[in-house]
Amino acid sequence: MRKIAILTMLLAFALSCTRKAQDNTVSVIPQPMYVGAYEGVFCIDKDTKIVVDEPSEEMLRIAGFLNEKLSKAAGFELEVLKGGPMPKENFIAFLNAGMPSESYIIDAKPGFIIIDYGDGAGAFYALQTLFQLLPTEIFSQQVQKRVEWSVPCCNIEDKPRFKYRGMHLDVCLHYFDLDFLKKYIDVMAAHKVNRFHWHLTEDQGWRLEIKKYPLLTEKGQWRKETVIGSLKSGIYDGTPYGGYYSQEQVKELVKYAAERYVTIIPEIELPGHALAAIACYPELSCGLEDHYETATRWGIFKQVYCPKESTFEFLEDVFDEVMELFPSELIHIGGDECPKASWKACPHCQALIKKLGLKDEYELQSYFVTRMEKYINSKGRQIIGWDEILQGGLAPNAKVMSWLGEEGGIKAAQQHHEAVMAPHYKYYLDYWQADPDSEPLAMSGPTTLRTMYEYEPVPEVLTPQEAKYIIGVEGCVWTEYMPTPERVEYMAWPRMCAIAESGWSRKDKDWDGFTRRLEKHFGRLDGMQVAYCDAFYSPMIVFHKDTPYNMVVTMTVDAPDAKIHYTLDGSMPDADSPVYDKPFSINRSQIVTAVAVRDGRQIGNIKSKRF
Ligand code: ACM
Ligand code: ZN
Repeated sequence: MRKIAILTMLLAFALSCTRKAQDNTVSVIPQPMYVGAYEGVFCIDKDTKIVVDEPSEEMLRIAGFLNEKLSKAAGFELEVLKGGPMPKENFIAFLNAGMPSESYIIDAKPGFIIIDYGDGAGAFYALQTLFQLLPTEIFSQQVQKRVEWSVPCCNIEDKPRFKYRGMHLDVCLHYFDLDFLKKYIDVMAAHKVNRFHWHLTEDQGWRLEIKKYPLLTEKGQWRKETVIGSLKSGIYDGTPYGGYYSQEQVKELVKYAAERYVTIIPEIELPGHALAAIACYPELSCGLEDHYETATRWGIFKQVYCPKESTFEFLEDVFDEVMELFPSELIHIGGDECPKASWKACPHCQALIKKLGLKDEYELQSYFVTRMEKYINSKGRQIIGWDEILQGGLAPNAKVMSWLGEEGGIKAAQQHHEAVMAPHYKYYLDYWQADPDSEPLAMSGPTTLRTMYEYEPVPEVLTPQEAKYIIGVEGCVWTEYMPTPERVEYMAWPRMCAIAESGWSRKDKDWDGFTRRLEKHFGRLDGMQVAYCDAFYSPMIVFHKDTPYNMVVTMTVDAPDAKIHYTLDGSMPDADSPVYDKPFSINRSQIVTAVAVRDGRQIGNIKSKRF
């Protein structure tokens, strides 16, 4: 329980930190459950003490994260008091108040900050909130000379809405090194995202070292070349592409993530998306072709695992090593996009269908997944798979990741199976976030920041009892068109801020409030050197066909208090151009050119769209 005496609170007085006016509004993403803001500030200076009432290794590591940030951005570190008598003032205390996991209370007064927590995750999340209460410069990588490290006086009571707050990364279509993955996890953790879904195997490359099957990485990491541009372009770069993670690297990343309260969920795809493995070990396939090669373009491939005993042996061996590396309770087995053509043409598969009394290849898929589930369950773990594991019947304990839409999540919840919502038209971050005409190549969309923000992950059709089976949300980053870390960050942020808020904050979200908080939050992303997309400040112009000769023009801008000014003759708009206030029609001779203006000044980029 809270160990600080009321007397201490009364003795506390305002410390002097009024050198300059600062923005001391409480502006946190994801929005905490309850925020009470008060007059005054608490100031961190060199004499501030960190008090850790239960100085376990874990709690001292968390205190260390505060010192790490201060050291980088403020140029000083604070003394950590391990239990013992409480200072009279000028301290930040972590007190174990026996709260539920992940929840915390921050009480910031002029003389001190008290953080109540129940477990390390709660203390860590309190600290993430504290960072966002400080000036955004606390995220800087260089010492900031003229910043007052003040925290607005407030009372924040916080806990997550969902237990599963996920972010996916496909490292197969493109590979990313460990340094980037650590940064990815850092940024996730700063948003209280607690599951990293690591997509490790694909048709286009196998990226995880498996000691028993060395060819998987020696050969399977490679594709001989990569498609250039759209997946149907037919043009290839002629350059071999590869990359994989050694088991030592995996262990390092799993530990790094765990220290930031992120569980890594590995995904090993089956029965489809297995071409890289089959290229190494052709006997895993139905054997209908003479030669198998790792895929060089994106898509769905008919070469899938054949449900032979030897294939199951291989997969069990692989999962033995996977489960040794990843302590996660959930293991992702893929399950998506498994064409049935090979199984239809394969004598073994057809004989197996007969022998097991199955109706068709869909039931064979269910048999495949259920067998793998049994094995993984026997090791004390649970499986999660994409929607298609519902085909032919869901394995008894499986959880569903609903990507095709909401249907899979709804069906799973109605059958009392847990589900994570990741519908592609809401939560796929490889989709355009703004007008495709002026954005880098993407898979589909657009799926704007606002679309993502306003998505409610619990489908209305579910009863309150069924709704409990929706355990959370996940933003998916398929990297077809993201060859570099910068492009991943551009596509993921700030849209992932919206998904993080849907995962953590209350159901009654507030778009307007979010945009105001996000504007300040960009400073934090800048500090973390995240190459986020700044479409927030630019108009989005959308055309809908009205008649063959007319288009209806709709324009939006995310930045708060901004107005859109436009022209229709190709000239550059400015603050004196007409203001957009409602949709209007244009004809073929017109071109819409628009800019967002706030307080008389242009913000963002000028956008233009032809009929
Ligand atoms: C998927 O996007 N194929 C899960
Ligand atoms: Zn077969």
